[in-house]
Amino acid sequence: MPTFTVFRYNPETDEAPCFQDYEIPESKGMTVLEGLYYILENRDPTIAFRSSCRQGVCGSCAMHVNGQYRLACETQVADMGEKVVVRPLAHMKIIRDMVVDMQPFFDQYERIKPYLIPVEEPGEREYLQSQKERARIDHHVDCILCAACYGSCPVIETDEKYLGPHALLKALRFVNDSRDGATGERLGFVASDFGIFRCHTIFNCQQVCPKDLDPTGAIGKLKMKALWARFTGRLKKQVYT
Ligand code: F3S
Repeated sequence: MPTFTVFRYNPETDEAPCFQDYEIPESKGMTVLEGLYYILENRDPTIAFRSSCRQGVCGSCAMHVNGQYRLACETQVADMGEKVVVRPLAHMKIIRDMVVDMQPFFDQYERIKPYLIPVEEPGEREYLQSQKERARIDHHVDCILCAACYGSCPVIETDEKYLGPHALLKALRFVNDSRDGATGERLGFVASDFGIFRCHTIFNCQQVCPKDLDPTGAIGKLKMKALWARFTGRLKKQVYT
């Protein structure tokens, strides 16, 4: 019988957060998310957490479980030992229990303009890419914006304006896209204040990414591309707003 030690906090009624223990019967193959659902349905209907797809695609159930940011739906209770300690993502305001206000996370994402800015006016047909061109973005399109990397990055704790590993990884995805025509502006923006040069190469984001992406490596590549673009006069300076 594993014990779930769950973070509880309702800012509207509680003076301070606390942890609450729940014993649950473990069944073979049970995930941490299923454990939380068991508590919700059988022990305590007031517990709050987010989830949607339950199969590691939507990114809704990222939380801090036994010392690491993970997707609860992809974490087996059997791998966690007798005690499963569940807490919300860090650096974001708690709305209730494991539910946090993700607005700052998505604000930073929006700042990098996460859409194609074509070279010319869009034509009547779709933009074609060769297999080789597509392969350059294969890895980065897999990001599900779960915010595990954002929660793990200590720079965000001290500098809320830092773009963050999620936004920078996505910025590289558009810089590397053969259909995008705003490389100079994108590199200028990520090289502006609060961008790539605020990253201290801590590697937490790389360690926790449930999709095995590499935000640290992406930031390193952006640094090299931005420096090269500045050197060759292709960098278009942008101001962080
Ligand atoms: Fe943060 Fe990742 Fe850089 S954890 S400091 S964005 S390497």
